Amino acid sequence: MLTDFTFPSEEMIASFVGKNILGAPQFSKEELEAVLGVAAFYEKALKEGKRLWDMDGKVMAALFFEPSTRTRLSFETAMHRLGGRVITLAESPENQISSTSKGETVHDTIKMVDNYADVIVIRSPRTGDAEIAANAASHPVVNAGDGFGQHPSQALLDMYTIVKEKGNPEGLTVAMIGDLKYGRTVHSLVDFLKYYKCRLVMASPDELKMPESIVQKMLDNGVEVKFCATIDEAVAEADIIYMTRVQKERFADLAEYDAVKDMFLMNGETLQHFKPGAVIMHALPRVNEISLDVDDYPGAAYFRQAGNGLFVRMALLALTTGNVRGAFKPEWAL
Ligand code: NCD
Repeated sequence: MLTDFTFPSEEMIASFVGKNILGAPQFSKEELEAVLGVAAFYEKALKEGKRLWDMDGKVMAALFFEPSTRTRLSFETAMHRLGGRVITLAESPENQISSTSKGETVHDTIKMVDNYADVIVIRSPRTGDAEIAANAASHPVVNAGDGFGQHPSQALLDMYTIVKEKGNPEGLTVAMIGDLKYGRTVHSLVDFLKYYKCRLVMASPDELKMPESIVQKMLDNGVEVKFCATIDEAVAEADIIYMTRVQKERFADLAEYDAVKDMFLMNGETLQHFKPGAVIMHALPRVNEISLDVDDYPGAAYFRQAGNGLFVRMALLALTTGNVRGAFKPEWAL
């Protein structure tokens, strides 16, 4: 039972070496809990003021072909906190600075970067690019979000946050609200929640419903899924309320975005419908889906959630490269 974080066995740690982190579905429950255990170990080490050298001499390449604030900065900080170094490509489809603008493919870009880095973190607007990258690389590839596909490091930090905020996740009711069609964070998170028999409550515009294949997968796994027409109805039974941004960049027609962007908004009035102790999460960035007056609510966990990303990403980098060393050699954590 996941009531606390447990540092994993040496065998479990060894099993991560060289692995790509492409999506939440690849994780067993034991592997998920192993990552959280290592994340907790690093969080404790940092809180104790330790200086870590687990990734000393190693280089992480951050290849971001789509805007990012938290994910890129927390991966970079994770590497720095582990004593490693970082090379970064940060561009967007509108502002291409790499040779992708000259027509270089992701495959070829990765073939190059693989010569420079020990681990590659990639974000792309195209679903499936992380897998293309993984096939091209000899070093581990971590998917930092591929289109409306997967965002596994976010889902891992979301689980870490749920446990820190609520304790044992077993049987919790999780409301997912907003853009469940294009929101890759919820596409990943459901695969972890299924291990704890969480109930899912979904509220979204009809145009932005959770893909049928994902809903079916949850049902096949014995997860109870309920659909609500309003945000007030959805929050009323939720222990965790996971708000999402309507993913403007995924709409081909902006008129369609305008038609749905303001349909599921949370404000101070929504709090009246909460169960006592309910926690609000959001991968961020928010646009207008959570109004500023909600920030003072004690269960508003979204900024704490973003902070947790650092520890989980430290764990992923060290695990996949075989550098979780502080635990075994205390002299590395001085
Ligand atoms: C999310 C993303 O990029 O998928 N952001 C993040 O990584 N923290 C969610 C979003 O952009 O809405």
